This record gives sequence, structure tokens and C-alpha cells, in this order.
Amino acid sequence: MPIPFATVIDLQAALNKDRIDGKKIGFVPTMGALHAGHLSLIARAAEENDVVVCSIFVNPTQFNNASDLEKYPRMPDADIHLLKQAGCDYAFLPSVDEIYPNGKQLLDIDFGALEKVMEGEFRPGHFKGMATVVNRLFEIVNPEKAYFGKKDFQQLAIVKNMVKQLRLPVNVIGCDTLRQDDGLAMSSRNMLLTPPQRKAAPLIYKGMMTAQEFIPFHTVEAVKELVIRYIQQSPLLKVEYFEIVNPETLQPIQNWSECKEVQACIAVLTEGPRLIDNVTYFTI
Ligand code: PAF
Repeated sequence: MPIPFATVIDLQAALNKDRIDGKKIGFVPTMGALHAGHLSLIARAAEENDVVVCSIFVNPTQFNNASDLEKYPRMPDADIHLLKQAGCDYAFLPSVDEIYPNGKQLLDIDFGALEKVMEGEFRPGHFKGMATVVNRLFEIVNPEKAYFGKKDFQQLAIVKNMVKQLRLPVNVIGCDTLRQDDGLAMSSRNMLLTPPQRKAAPLIYKGMMTAQEFIPFHTVEAVKELVIRYIQQSPLLKVEYFEIVNPETLQPIQNWSECKEVQACIAVLTEGPRLIDNVTYFTI
């Protein structure tokens, strides 16, 4: 069973002992409602470190929509049970006051163009809130390595950029997206899909994957239209954005010749949860 901690002081006391014993700390930040994708991050952290900390904290400052925050699934007992199987040592379940003892002040950091596109454009303020909590959690846990899923491709780029700007002593590791058998990217929000929405949702990954065979014979714009049309064959799915971007700068490409590998990133609205996903295309 992972040892559960609710306060910074108790968690840090345990981690300080571990550090004195020369143990390496791996960290997996989550918002709970854990699924196999999270567990794969914990398993990797357990392979590469002596002690694994997993935080479960639904961070209010990264939600730009009150109903999304309210509906976000919370199931701490089931989560702790899953953490036990995955090899987690410490589960950190802090209160909002523990994370934000001086009020919800946001980190003053400029991510430039990285935060102006895609999620940054459609979820204003999201990345400032996300970076604030990740920075606070890094400060509390002080891990050698921290693990993030590549499903949140832009989040991963922003966390890496924050670590670079603030010179934080942590190695940020991106881990591959886990998918259901029908291709749907694993996400805590999937459990909020109705059965018909769940049935339609695999069109997102299928649509993005069909595009690879059209590259480079169609223009970037034409491929984008094809993918959007494919996904929107279901009336239950509405593409909020579909961008094909340079994986380093996250800026949309105009021509395939700009990069050998590009990242296709999507957000899809259902009448329930909003789903995001991304895949890599090879352009030559
Ligand atoms: O990806 C998430 O679950 C969250 O954005 C994170 C990194 C735990 C910060 O709240």
C-alpha cells in the first residue's frame, strides 16, 4: 500500500529520510481518476528510481471552466488501490490550502508563442495554472525525475520550458500515450462519455491516422480538412482545433518541407467532456 500523505511537512519528512539514505525520487503528478496510462508512468518511475511519489490533486487554477472543474472525476479510494498495484511508495493528496498557502497566486512566467496556440488559445489561463501547480509540486517533492504523458503534448513542452527557464533540478520525461483497443487515448475524462459518445470517440485517432498516407501529396490545409471531415462524420464530435505543428516550437506548419516529423494535435468537443489527442506524422 502506498503511504498516503495530506500535508507537505509529513511528505517532506519522509522524503528527507529517503534522501539521507541516498535514494532517488521519481515523481508522477496527476489529478487522480487514475487509468492504465497513469499506471504506466508510475511503473516507469518505479523502474528508474528508488522511491515513487504520485500526487493526486485536482488543481483549480488550471480549469478555465467552473463546470469542468466541478465534474472532474474524483475517486481517491480507488486511486490508492491502483497505486498499490503499480509500485507507488507515497501518495500525496493535499488540500487546496496546502498547495496554495498564500492564496492562488499564479507563477509569473512567459511561455511566449508556446502558450498562444491550441490549448493556450482555447483554454485561456490553463497553462499558467498548470505550470504554477507543477512548479509548486516540484518544490515540495524535489524529485530527480518527473514523468508526464505525451497525450498532453503541449503541457509537456511547457513543463520542459518552465524547467529550463527556472533552472529547476529535475529531469522531465515524456512517456508514450496509452490507448484503448479501439485507439481512443486513455484519459480520466473518458469515463464522463455517454455510451454513444464513447462509441464515436475512436474516430478521433482513426481520423488522424488516415492522414499519414496523404502526406506529402496533399497540402497541409487539405490534409487538415480531410481529417476534420472524417471525425465529424459523427454528429457527436465537433473538432475545436486540429493543428499540424513543429514539435519544438508548436507553431503550425504551412508546408510539409518545414520539418521531417510534425505533430498533429487535436481537441474535440462532445456534449460531455472535451477530448484531446496527438500523433506524429513523418513528412518524407
Ligand atoms: O496532466 C495533469 O493531470 C495535470 O495537468 C497535472 C500535470 C497533474 C497538473 O495538475
